Amino acid sequence: MKKTLMLFSSLVILATIAACSSDNEDDLTGTDDDPGNGEVTYTGNIRAIMTSSCVGCHSSPPTNGAPFSLTTFNDVQSRATGIIGAISKQAGEPRAMPPGGRLPQATIDLFQDWIDADTPQN
Ligand code: HEC
Repeated sequence: MKKTLMLFSSLVILATIAACSSDNEDDLTGTDDDPGNGEVTYTGNIRAIMTSSCVGCHSSPPTNGAPFSLTTFNDVQSRATGIIGAISKQAGEPRAMPPGGRLPQATIDLFQDWIDADTPQN
């Protein structure tokens, strides 16, 4: 009886390991909402995030006390490090962006993917 239970447990563990490795493969091939390295671009992904969440204040010229505009590729690329810092802060921290509430984690991850891919324009 005990032996049967142990055998069963081993099978469960093996099955779990097998399931994990197949998940990892999905991550590597970059399916689902994670495009993987090289596929996130300013024109394809980042510009829309800026337009919907940032350009209300970081317009050209900036409004509502925002210190700079984020309307062009050059604006966003040159400030990429500051942007990822500001959007990664927890809501309520000083200078967390956008001030109205944290972006979804998937959006923050996408911006980090863009930095990891060396901020391509197209
Ligand atoms: C409601 C207006 C508003 C919106 C929307 C907004 N910002 Fe800001 N942003 C500001 C203001 C005001 C400051 C200056 C804050 C300060 O110095 O205290 C600022 C500062 C910043 C800074 C500099 C932070 C620092 O530590 O100096 C960055 C980077 C930034 N914003 C990025 C963004 C990004 C990216 C978005 C969109 C995800 C965004 N902001 C959305 C108003 C806004």
